[in-house]
Amino acid sequence: MSDLIQILSDEEIAAIEHECDHLPDRQSAAIGAMMIVQKHRGWVSDDSLNAIARLLDMSPEALDSIATFYNLIFRQPVGRHVVMVCDSVSCYVMGADGLKTQVEEYLGIKMGETTEDDRFTLLPIVCLGACDRAPTMLIDEELVGDVSAENFDEIFGRFE
Ligand code: FES
Repeated sequence: MSDLIQILSDEEIAAIEHECDHLPDRQSAAIGAMMIVQKHRGWVSDDSLNAIARLLDMSPEALDSIATFYNLIFRQPVGRHVVMVCDSVSCYVMGADGLKTQVEEYLGIKMGETTEDDRFTLLPIVCLGACDRAPTMLIDEELVGDVSAENFDEIFGRFE
């Protein structure tokens, strides 16, 4: 357990244990535990993932495969703000493809990249469940609907 303590903070371990207390088994806390660590560190490194896996009595491979299928877990470093552009069907019909290009041009990066000043990381995401407001983006935890290039200054200006 001592190597865990070196990698995860007391606060992270306590929050993960608290999560486990409410669940039938420790593995059920996998996503919650990774979100806790990500909230503190911005992303989930290999070292963090190994430590979480050990804390939850599961293999790092099993935990990593869960992370792979849950696209709000970042396994690479990201910028201060993560911009996720919905590319599912309703948003596509409402111009998400053109929007994606406009966002790339506005931020000066391609999908999967981070701006040089570490301010924004740009990623695609599947349906955000707000199709009536298509096209949509998720910036950190804020859903932005009816996105238009005309509003980019106002939208992105709120995230320093
Ligand atoms: S398809 Fe984009 S929010 Fe549903």
